[in-house]
Amino acid sequence: MKFAVFASGTGTNLQVIIDAVKRNEITAELALIFSNNRKSLALKRAEEAGIKTLCLEPKDYLAPQSYDRDIVIYLKEHEIDFVVLAGYMKLLTPFFVKEFPNKIINIHPSLLPSFKGISGIKDAYTYGAKVTGVTIHFVDDKMDHGEIIMQESLKIKENETLESLTERIHALEHKMYPKAIQLFVENRLKIQGRKVLVLDKPAKTV
Ligand code: GAR
Repeated sequence: MKFAVFASGTGTNLQVIIDAVKRNEITAELALIFSNNRKSLALKRAEEAGIKTLCLEPKDYLAPQSYDRDIVIYLKEHEIDFVVLAGYMKLLTPFFVKEFPNKIINIHPSLLPSFKGISGIKDAYTYGAKVTGVTIHFVDDKMDHGEIIMQESLKIKENETLESLTERIHALEHKMYPKAIQLFVENRLKIQGRKVLVLDKPAKTV
């Protein structure tokens, strides 16, 4: 199985995924890192790891669908089986999602469906939530909406700063994401309505 990681920024989750693949904790080939941001640290990490990269900038395109169409063409050419979003701060078009049905996974730094969007950690913190966490989910064509694969919570302490909360959320993400990706690789995630069942053995394919 071959997969691509999409990242727009710092790429700490990407780094954890790269390391997990190296240690064989994710038993799929990380064949491509895609970014919409030429300056992202994620691209540097990919290059350092010797992984193929692709960067397309939305400003060079008139319509979001033609942008996604070019990415899909590239992914198909490179026989990518599934896509992992790791801080990819751009909404995928319905066209893209249809090309990879139930084959796109995202991580989000809050307990969905609360605090969707690009600043989940800060939004939960400033709202005064007592509990927040991390959600890993399948991607559909609505933002931060697909079926939930894994979710873990953490308490926001009385004296917590936004910085300390951000650090703790990232540490939780780094612990969870490789495990969720490996469950997908082992074909142990079965979608039933809104629920994702985690199977002891791989699901049978028809
Ligand atoms: C992560 O916290 C991830 O959950 C979040 O962006 C950060 C990327 O960090 N994603 C979203 O908010 C998606 N809505 P990283 O670049 O260091 O992995």
